[in-house]
Amino acid sequence: MGEGWDEGQRTLLKHRILFDEVAIAARVDQLAREISKDLPSPAPLIVGILTGSFIFLADLVRALARLNVEPQIDLMAVSHYGAATESSGHVKLYKDTTLDITARAVVLVDDILDTGRSLSLARDLVRAKGPIWLRTCVLLDKPSRRAVPIKADYVGFEVPDVWVIGYGLDAGGQGRALPYVAALEPGG
Ligand code: IMP
Ligand code: MG
Repeated sequence: MGEGWDEGQRTLLKHRILFDEVAIAARVDQLAREISKDLPSPAPLIVGILTGSFIFLADLVRALARLNVEPQIDLMAVSHYGAATESSGHVKLYKDTTLDITARAVVLVDDILDTGRSLSLARDLVRAKGPIWLRTCVLLDKPSRRAVPIKADYVGFEVPDVWVIGYGLDAGGQGRALPYVAALEPGG
């Protein structure tokens, strides 16, 4: 245990499960089926937006592989700067894609569509690289919070205006490894 370890840090945030592992797995399979039907190429490029999408991305690409789609994977990192459970309104690119996107069929994947600023910036950046086909896919959508006009092409679940954690999503760095999606409880 490290110096200055605070036992309190081990206390998991108080939360309520919204979507359990079984529901998520079934929905991810459905999304993969929808995407595979629409894809103009059997070898698409799937671009995940770090950090929140890493678990959804891992499950989605394996669901696609089971449908005989052979995706290549790239990653970009976009983040709001500021508070742990608030969108600051300022979005920054921390890591760009590395593979050639020209003339590729691309699916941009994020964990959650909130104000829409992150996905909108990521989509504009990818679009500027000249894909022949570009779609967006998010596990969760919080439409009530939208600040910029963007809709994802594929959405797993709609959520109300609550802060969610788990399955890759965090609150101040905590909760990403939970196997389900949960809403933070007040006072959690
Ligand atoms: P947007 O740019 O406001 O749409 O925010 C999208 C990003 O903010 C997501 O990719 C998440 O990383 C983060 N985010 C937004 N809402 C939540 C939430 O309820 N829980 C965890 N992360 C969230
Ligand atoms: Mg994110």
